[in-house]
Formats: sequence, C-alpha cells, structure tokens
Amino acid sequence: MPSITINGKTFPFTPGQKIIEVANNADLEIPQYCYHPGLSIPAQCRICLAEVWAPNPRNDNKLEPLMGGKLLPTCATDCTDGMVVYTDSPKSVANQKAVMEYLLINHPLDCPVCDQAGECTLQDFSYKYGRSASRFEEQKVKQPKKDLGPTIYIYSDRCIMCTRCVRFAREVPGTAELMIEGRGNQSQIDIFPGVALDNELAGNVVDLCPVGALLDKDFLFAQRVWFLKRTPSIDGITASGDNIYLEHNEGRVYRTKPRTNLAINKWWITDEVRYGWKFIHSEDRLTQPLRRQHAALVPSTWQRTLDLAAAALRNAAESGKRIGLILSPMLSCEDAYHLARVARQIDPNAAIALGPVPIDGHDKTFPPGANPTDTNAFTMYAEKAPNARGVRRVIEALGPTVSFDDLLKGTESGSIAAVIATGNYPSAWATDRVINALHRPTLILIDTLASPLAEAADFILPAATWAEKAGTFENARSLIQAFEQAIPVVGLSKSEAQIALDLEAVIAGEILASPASGYADLIVDEGPGQVPAATASVAVERATLYNAADTRTAMADANPALSVFITDVLTPAADRAIESDMPLVTL
Ligand code: SF4
Ligand code: FES
Repeated sequence: MPSITINGKTFPFTPGQKIIEVANNADLEIPQYCYHPGLSIPAQCRICLAEVWAPNPRNDNKLEPLMGGKLLPTCATDCTDGMVVYTDSPKSVANQKAVMEYLLINHPLDCPVCDQAGECTLQDFSYKYGRSASRFEEQKVKQPKKDLGPTIYIYSDRCIMCTRCVRFAREVPGTAELMIEGRGNQSQIDIFPGVALDNELAGNVVDLCPVGALLDKDFLFAQRVWFLKRTPSIDGITASGDNIYLEHNEGRVYRTKPRTNLAINKWWITDEVRYGWKFIHSEDRLTQPLRRQHAALVPSTWQRTLDLAAAALRNAAESGKRIGLILSPMLSCEDAYHLARVARQIDPNAAIALGPVPIDGHDKTFPPGANPTDTNAFTMYAEKAPNARGVRRVIEALGPTVSFDDLLKGTESGSIAAVIATGNYPSAWATDRVINALHRPTLILIDTLASPLAEAADFILPAATWAEKAGTFENARSLIQAFEQAIPVVGLSKSEAQIALDLEAVIAGEILASPASGYADLIVDEGPGQVPAATASVAVERATLYNAADTRTAMADANPALSVFITDVLTPAADRAIESDMPLVTL
C-alpha cells in the first residue's frame, strides 16, 4: 500500500485521498477551517498549508519540494507514494500564525458570552497556533446580528468566512438560501432577500460553523458547553437510526448533535431529530402511577397499581376472554420482549399487535436527485417511529401476532377483556376510534404524555423516553443499533421493560423495592375517599432490575430467531480525542 510521511510519522493511504484526510483519520491534527469531509474543497482559509516534498521520477526519485517549495493546502493536495509533509516546519508554523492573526483582526473578544466558547476551533487554534498578543490597534469592523430563519441567528462579526454554511446549503439540502454579500472585510454571510434559511437540514449549519457565528436559537445562552455531558444515542423519533449525541446536564437534555456514521447519517441530522427530544421534558409528562377509583384517576404507588392491574389481567384471562397487548414502535426491542413475554405468561393466547406506525409524506433523499445508496446521500424517512421493525421482529419470534386493527375489533366485540397499551410517542397518538375501542376493556396504559386516551384508562403507568433508558432500535434499513441511558428517569417513570419485570414480580407475589434504596413502602388498603399513605419502609428482595445487555442475551437464548441481538447489534464507537502533537515554535 502506498504511504505518506507527515511530521515524521508514516501512514498508508488509498489513492485519491487528500493529505488532510489521512492526518484526520490518524488523529494527527492539522489546523483546518474551510475543509469538511462532506463538502466541496475551496482551500480558502489557508491555515492547513504545509511544506510538501515528493520523490521526483525525473531526478532518480530524489525528494524535492513540490511547487518550488511553496506551501500547499493539505486539504486540496492528493497524497502520492513517498510524499513527505511538514506542518511543523518553521515555514508552516509561520503561516499558521499569520492566518490566525488575520482571522482575529476583526473578530470580537466576546468569548465570555459566546455559545461556542469551549468548543470553538478559533479559540483552540488561536491557543495552539496563534500569537499570544494582538498587534492590531485600529478599529475592528463591526457587523450586524441577523435572523436567518426559524431556528438560526448569525452574529456576523464572529464569521471567519470559511463558507462551510454556504456550501452546505448548496450541496446537501440543495436549497442554497445562503450567500456571501459584500467584499473584503465587509463580506457577510446572508440569506437572499425574502428567502429564509428554512429547510429540513438547516440546523446542521450551526454544527458546521467552526466559530460562534451561526447560533441555534433553541440553545442560545441555555448552557455553557463545558457543563454538558454527551451520551452517544440513536434517533428516537424517526426510522432513520441517525447516530446522535444527547447533550445534557443535571438530568436535563439541552441539545442533540449529529454523531458521524458514514453508513447511516453521514455528518448530518434533520431538524425533526435535532429538536424532536422536547417531549422528554414536556409539562404533560406522566410522572406518577395513577389508577381509577370511583371514576376518577388518583395517584397511586407502583406496588398498588401493579397489584390491581395484575389482578385485572388475570381475571380477564380466567374469564375465558383474551388479553391484548399493543406494542408501540417507539419502544426498544428489549421493552417489546419483556412486555410480550409477561403478556404470554398471563394469557398464552394473548393478542399481541404492533401499534400504529406514523407516516408523514414520503422518504426524501439529499442532495435532491441523489440515489439513497450514493456515498454522500442522506435520507429523511417518512416513517416517524424508530423501531417498528425491531418490535415486529421480536413479537413475531415469540408467537402469533394480530394486526392493530384486529386487536381493536377484538375489544369492540368484547372478546378481548383487558388491554396493555403502550405509547411513548412525542405527541398524542390515539384517534377517536382507538379511544372508543380501548375504552371498553380494562385499559392499562403505559405512556409518557397525558392525552385523551389517558382519560379512558383504568391504570396509567408512566413510561421513560428513550433518553432515560438503554436498548436497541432497528432502523428503516434493518440495522440494529444499541443506545445507552443518557439521563435519569423523569419523576417516577420506568422503562417499559422494567414495568414488565415489575409486573412479573408482582404476579409472583413479590413486593417491589425502590431500585435506589432497596426498600419498599407498605401501603394501607385505602377505603372509599381515602388517600393512600405509606405506613412503613421495609427491606425487601430487589425485583429484577432491567439490564439491556442481559436482556439481549436472554432474547438470543430464548429464541434462535433473536440471536441477531447478540451477533448484529451495532454499538457506538468510542470517541477519539484529537490532540496536537505539534511542538510550538517561537518565531
Ligand atoms: S458563518 Fe460560520 S460556517 Fe458560515 S462562513 Fe462564517 S464561519 Fe464559516
Ligand atoms: S482547510 Fe485547507 S485551506 Fe482551509
């Protein structure tokens, strides 16, 4: 394999790769602003310039400086076998310092109030490659703050004119709302008159901007980024399986960022995924078990609610009728497995159905006209649920299933006497027909948001969103990906898998313990009009705690058709820290 040497280290490359690609893949830092692997290469910021030498076939393959010793842009120079590159030579370092000084001439010193501070490559490279003091004594050019569209502001005087945002709008969504207006130090990024930056992928320009010029209105002044923890996760809103980071602090999600996966979402996410997490902290979250008493829903404990729900399910099964289980496509495969398993324990003939799968329009591939299988194509899926395929795969492996429509018909005809229904959709999901059909049997609703369906329920069990639990989703292209719990559960909610395990424990006569304390509160049996009260805390055996990896092993052991949950699950690659090994040279 051909190889190239950068700053004394040798790396193999594939023909066609640029020098900067090889360095980036090897975690060897070359400073860069305008280069982005998903965009065209204008080679205009000039900070990646380096001394490049190559064997000259017309001179016995002796190493000679390319282009007469001029510095070359590593982002636009193809690797050739035997090439030797120096980004740490005095000449290269002098260029880096000059470029940094030039970029900072008109840049305001507003890092203390800039959202980008802490993740700004202008800050980082200024520290690593810039001068320690400014020699600029004139007035800085002041430029305006502008509203570019529904989600984005630009603070123009922070812009370093790398043009990533302009190229992105032209090359990925193809909407080309952005342009450079003016010349020289008066240049500004702007939208064309009357055309807002408003496309399905617009938020990506904020991620692309190497400085704090493009700002997400939703995150503006919300958090200092160094307080945020990032958990690798998967899109929990659509069938894309986009790889994301959930960024959170003190149990609250603040933003979602794309996680590069060239096989799935490349470097991008849609705005519906970027902002779709909001229901996690909705004021309508169900946070407490409720049960119907004298026609009203009253707060209850998990133990009491599950005791009564289990009795209702058993009565239904023993009455010669069936119980029903509706598994939402918003659930993880592990949630579906545990719930289906416990439903079959109660009623081996349980009617188990995949819940409604929301579809909105048609799949859309970017850039417009691209084939979804093209290397750089990005697809936004019409299916607005992350795991219809995974849930279907699990329940079909565990026994016969029914369609959602047939399950509703069963409740309407009275052949199904009790239903466990799961939701976890980001908004109200049940139609009038669903509400009417589920009003008839005993309804045990496991859901995240208050809704008209909740009004029809006999028991409400608050469920955790995907950010609050671990599991796997199978995306529209049948890739099974694991995600981890990012934040603690909201209120007293639990994952659907944990609810299933607790229901199983209650049926076996166990008393539930709090996962945190290992203690259980014993409740007096309240009479009409009485409010339940804890009388004592007692130590009890811990009911089985849900564990996603253990569940996948159990799934594979229980059924060979589910062995894919051991063999085919994709887990997030570990983050790579990019640190410079370049010594600073004082000129
Ligand atoms: S706004 Fe940001 S991404 Fe756009 S040109 Fe300026 S620095 Fe680059
Ligand atoms: S990254 Fe090479 S010129 Fe900008």
